[in-house]
Amino acid sequence: MTQDAHDRLLIIDFGSQVTQLIARRLRELNVYCEIHPFNKVDQAFLDAFAPKAVIFSGGPASVFAEGAPMPPAGVFDLGVPILGICYGQQVMMHCLGGKVERGHGTAEFGRAYVTPTPTTHPILSGWFDTDDGAGGREQVWMSHGDHVSEIAPGFQVLGTSPNAPFAITANPERHFYAVQFHPEVHHTPKGAKLYENFVRLAGFKGDWTMGAYREEAIRKIREQVGDERVICGLSGGVDSSVAAVLIHEAIGDQLTCVFVDHGLLRLGEAEQVVSMFRDTYNIPLIHADESDLFLGALEGVSDPEVKRKTIGRLFIEVFEKHAKSIGGAKFLAQGTLYPDVIESVSFSGGPSVTIKSHHNVGGLPEKMGMKLVEPLRELFKDEVRALGRELGLPQSFIGRHPFPGPGLAIRCPGEITREKLDILRRADAVYIDQIRKHGLYDDIWQAFAAILPMKTVGVMGDGRTYDYALALRAVTSVDGMTADYYPFTHDFLGETATRIINEVQGVNRVFYDCTSKPPGTIELE
Ligand code: XMP
Repeated sequence: MTQDAHDRLLIIDFGSQVTQLIARRLRELNVYCEIHPFNKVDQAFLDAFAPKAVIFSGGPASVFAEGAPMPPAGVFDLGVPILGICYGQQVMMHCLGGKVERGHGTAEFGRAYVTPTPTTHPILSGWFDTDDGAGGREQVWMSHGDHVSEIAPGFQVLGTSPNAPFAITANPERHFYAVQFHPEVHHTPKGAKLYENFVRLAGFKGDWTMGAYREEAIRKIREQVGDERVICGLSGGVDSSVAAVLIHEAIGDQLTCVFVDHGLLRLGEAEQVVSMFRDTYNIPLIHADESDLFLGALEGVSDPEVKRKTIGRLFIEVFEKHAKSIGGAKFLAQGTLYPDVIESVSFSGGPSVTIKSHHNVGGLPEKMGMKLVEPLRELFKDEVRALGRELGLPQSFIGRHPFPGPGLAIRCPGEITREKLDILRRADAVYIDQIRKHGLYDDIWQAFAAILPMKTVGVMGDGRTYDYALALRAVTSVDGMTADYYPFTHDFLGETATRIINEVQGVNRVFYDCTSKPPGTIELE
């Protein structure tokens, strides 16, 4: 599905680790863009895509390498603006008659400073114009071995750094721009300005809004589905919820949602999901209460991987059973996001393409033989949240912390029992209530309680207790890949521990987990 009604920008990916960030910067400017690997972009693709501008990403290769990644020659004849980043600059110069040289003392990795030349150009609007004590220099992030040693005919130099004499270059007549650094990363503080200037010069209207996306997505779902039936696995998470509400807006009761309750949800969670979808949105919903099945199969299991595999297998079985019971559904809806589907470029052993494919609700099998409806395929996580807001989903729902598919099973290290799950649910609810009451919920990426596989001795009133110990976890993170523990105050921790012990029978000790990731993971299992 592509956004035909909008100006489109094509990012040709040469394999940089940060290509996705280019897309993020552009989406922030309301510009619709797609990332495609260089070896999938040929003339026919360019003709069909009809980009209004093109960006060449960075990449790990050298233009000197045999079979070095190259853009299709025709891209330079499209008559549209092109911006080359790092390897993208080198490849542009290489193709257009400039020269690139090997590193040998001119490599730059990390922070560098670019100084302007006397030649000015609107691509640099907002750069070098403040006297912030840096002497008109701008900080940029470099990561290059090779460098451009001679610019192609028609290009001018707009900025230099100690090891990149052609740090910023432009061919104003053809609207080709090329920089040696990475403007998309956080460490190039004014990098977003460069993208803003580029899309402005390219004539983008910045019309890619969530309202427009919603209208187009609805039209496309109707076109794709016709009068067939669709089933959607609902996890209660943001992605599948937004997908379900959007599809329901498009095709009404042709959609049925299946919510598999594995008995490992948080306090009141199943009721909240069912009430929101069935009662508020009137979406046909099967609430499959399969807690006996899941908890029965997990009895005596303490190995984290066995837990995950057992839950994953049962989830698929249960989902298939209910999907069949609806009868005749031809489409399966999923909340797959853009980062899950971008084709990434690998250079090990020559260019090859890996397609990341991720199934949101427990890994639904392809053998189900259904066609997929994936209306969020083009969105990043924060854009899904924006779409959810556009669709009127409550903020309390959209802003919810992520919750893992295996649920409380991986917050209950060791054997899972109903008693432990019950204690954990109640303690977690008190902890989250504390966080909300102190106004901290939105500052934290994920917070939860875990029940530890041990009992400790305590004293309450005049009596001895021998009860479970609980670990509290709260982290800040951007993507869950790395995380820092959240620095609660001692007062907050003390108050929370007291509340949990007073209000939740079965707990007599509370620990706070101050491990970052790495070396810890976010979940305990
Ligand atoms: P870790 O524990 O790996 O967690 O640092 C990173 C993020 O992933 C979530 N997580 C899972 N989500 N199935 C899921 O759907 C899983 O098996 C799973 N394990 C971890 C975790 O909650 C955190 O957001």
